[in-house]
Amino acid sequence: MKTSKSSFWFQCERFITITKVTADGYLYFLFMLSIYILVQSESSKASFIHRRLPRGLSNCPSADTQLDLTKRNITQLQTSDFSCFLDLKFLNLSYNSIEELDCSVFQFNPSLEYLDISNNRLHTIQCQSLQYIKNIKHLDLSYNNFKQMHFCKEFTALSQLKHLGLSAEQIQTNSFLNIAPMQLEYVFLGMEDLTEYENGSLQFLNTNKLLINLPTNLNLASSYLLSDALNTSTTLEVSGAQCDVHCDYFTKSFSTITKNSKVVNLIISNGAMPGNEIFKIMPPIWDSSIEHLYIKIFRLQNELKYVKMDFLHHSIKSLTVEDLTNEVVSFRDTHPLQMFAEMLVENITFSRAELYFFFCPPAPSIFRVINLPSNRLTDDIFQNCANLKELELLNLQNNKLEQMSKISSMTLTMPNLKHLDLSRNGLHIDNEKQCKWMDSLVFLNLSESGLTNSVFGCLPINLQILDLSKNQISSIPIEVKNFVSLKELHLASNRLTDIPDCHNIGNNLGVLKVDENLINLPSKEFLQNCEYVKYLSAGKNPFQCNCDLREFVKMGVMFPKRLIGWPESYKCADPENLRGIFLQDFYLPEISCNISMLLGVVLGTIFILSIIVVSACFYFDVPWYIRMLFRWFRTKHRLRNVNQQDIQNDKLFHAFISYSQEDSDWVKNMLLPNLERKDGSIKICHHERHFIPGKAIIENIIDCIEKSFKSIFVLSPNFIQSDWCHYELYFAQHTLFGKNSNNLILILLDPIPQYLIPNKYNKLRSIMKHRTYLEWPKEKGKHALFWANLREAIHVNLSIKEEDMADPEVRT
Ligand SMILES: *[C@@H]1O[C@H](CO)[C@@H](O)[C@H](O)[C@H]1NC(C)=O
Ligand SMILES: *[C@@H]1O[C@H](CO)[C@@H](O)[C@H](O)[C@H]1NC(C)=O
Ligand SMILES: *[C@@H]1O[C@H](CO)[C@@H](O)[C@H](O)[C@H]1NC(C)=O
Repeated sequence: MKTSKSSFWFQCERFITITKVTADGYLYFLFMLSIYILVQSESSKASFIHRRLPRGLSNCPSADTQLDLTKRNITQLQTSDFSCFLDLKFLNLSYNSIEELDCSVFQFNPSLEYLDISNNRLHTIQCQSLQYIKNIKHLDLSYNNFKQMHFCKEFTALSQLKHLGLSAEQIQTNSFLNIAPMQLEYVFLGMEDLTEYENGSLQFLNTNKLLINLPTNLNLASSYLLSDALNTSTTLEVSGAQCDVHCDYFTKSFSTITKNSKVVNLIISNGAMPGNEIFKIMPPIWDSSIEHLYIKIFRLQNELKYVKMDFLHHSIKSLTVEDLTNEVVSFRDTHPLQMFAEMLVENITFSRAELYFFFCPPAPSIFRVINLPSNRLTDDIFQNCANLKELELLNLQNNKLEQMSKISSMTLTMPNLKHLDLSRNGLHIDNEKQCKWMDSLVFLNLSESGLTNSVFGCLPINLQILDLSKNQISSIPIEVKNFVSLKELHLASNRLTDIPDCHNIGNNLGVLKVDENLINLPSKEFLQNCEYVKYLSAGKNPFQCNCDLREFVKMGVMFPKRLIGWPESYKCADPENLRGIFLQDFYLPEISCNISMLLGVVLGTIFILSIIVVSACFYFDVPWYIRMLFRWFRTKHRLRNVNQQDIQNDKLFHAFISYSQEDSDWVKNMLLPNLERKDGSIKICHHERHFIPGKAIIENIIDCIEKSFKSIFVLSPNFIQSDWCHYELYFAQHTLFGKNSNNLILILLDPIPQYLIPNKYNKLRSIMKHRTYLEWPKEKGKHALFWANLREAIHVNLSIKEEDMADPEVRT
């Protein structure tokens, strides 16, 4: 049995325990026991290990697909820890103290795809158990206690594996042998502690991308590793290369690179070297398989000397330098920055590289793209530079450029320049000096440059795309009409108060961006003249939600694709009560915006109402009622001057009788004879006898009613046909005559169905509903009782003065 810890990496045929069986084991047991007790007393979170979560509990299984268990002091894994998480996909166990990986603990997690167990103390992997993580895609085993790298052949069972992370102190030829058939996408080798590397070991590794963290102190092993890495993957990232004076362990590795090497993209990151050391790798790279070289987060130290470099060949297509810290303190003779200008490469990028100057290439250059954003370049750049004839794109974003006229003249020696980015500089226009641009320019980015309306007097004429966002522009002058090729105009974050009228802009304009300006109400001109603008971006303006905005809102609702950002960026700012609501939800009905329409509706309504009132008056005979009421009023006035006793004395009749002419037979033959017995105890005012000729009928009626104690109404379908009867009833029932409502007596001669009563007789209807009436019985036998009842109802002691009573005989 081997005693050295993890002398065999991923040893599978035999599982080798590292713990010595005797005293070590006992101590280990005690250690685990104490951790167990500790952990049990901790919160439930910390007690994850050894906490048993048997399957079938009510809160189990869990639907969680991700578990982050980093930094939990976990020392050992158990099946029960994960058996609940049947859908577990992602498990991060990094930064714990796990010593052994037995994948059978994941036997209930068939979906596990991501397993990060880096930064633990692994020294053993149970190879037989790898079958339990067959679906694993991402496996990070880096930064553990493996001394040697050795993959057992069971690893090939992980057919989905794409991403692998590893660390070891020693790499040997057979380390990757067993996984040679596997095609990986990304392999990370954390080689900070590498002490031994056997040449050719990486040849069995198949991956598209390889990232190597180099040892902090570069050594021979790392040099061999790097040489092999150049032939391992198409993309190689080398991180952490640092050296103070000589960097041979690093630079010599590149002397082996050829055109037939495998690497195409080389990324050198997180490094720090003397300037001239890193430049040593350039000539070999320029004649190699490498097409794209990236240097990221890199510190140039000490001295940088100009060295004439031989770029006879130029396999390389792009050089990108990002986040370069320049600590170079001195230089001699030719400026070392000249080396950048002499590089033969089509695309060159120095971003955040602290450059304060970039030389004009001394000979015709093949630069087609020069990206120099976020440096400290000034207006002196590329002045009168005749060797940039191929240049198509120049990006000088975020530098220290100032004078537009000077920059414009810079372009005059660049006949192919199409794309110029001058954004995020503090530019100004000098009215004295003219701007002269190369005609080839079609794209100009002047955003965030502190420009005002005067910029329109200093622009290249053939522009197709012009970005003037984030400036101080308040209006678009008429000159813009000359830009006939303009397709895109970006004016976001300026001070425009209206959307520009397209009439003043060439009619090729397809995209117009005016978000975040001061536009309250897009003018009608825009809506009329800008039909060909395919996309308009006008969100985040302080829209005034009133009638005039409706056309614009309509456009948004009808063509939401045309308005970029619709509806979420378009909100009302004014009036107060609508602030914050989406224009999409802002709705004013047509009528509230159209005065003549509003007037029409109001007048129309008044007219219709008057018609209704007038016709209702006629329908219900209101004028007649009014006339009559007037009369009553007079009568009442007259009566008021007569005292109550007089009223009593005035009564000449027991009852007034109202009936329809159709029912007169019954009245004359039945009612009158039965009431007015021979004794003359009951006197009836009967219109045929007592109406005074010459008086208006209505006055006769009123007289008659007034002179009677009671009013008898003979109700029948005929009665309701007769208007007169109805009026009589109305008067009789009116308060004037009805101070005590007992003076109304209703006789129902024939049943009247409710529906027969016309609406205008609603009075009658309600009387019939609320009062009891005497029903004329059809059976003869009941007649006597009926008469008795009726007589009783009207019986009153009259102090009738004989002389006042008209002689019935005379009146008929
Ligand atoms: C796991 O967690 C560590 C520490 O928080 C983190 O650095 C690492 O990226 C995580 N792993 C994955 C695969 O996300
Ligand atoms: C060069 O840069 C341009 C513009 O950034 C890009 O479109 C092109 O793909 C680059 N070419 C190479 C070879 O990197
Ligand atoms: C102009 O430059 C700014 C950054 O400086 C960038 O955000 C913007 O997208 C550029 N404009 C165009 C049209 O590419």
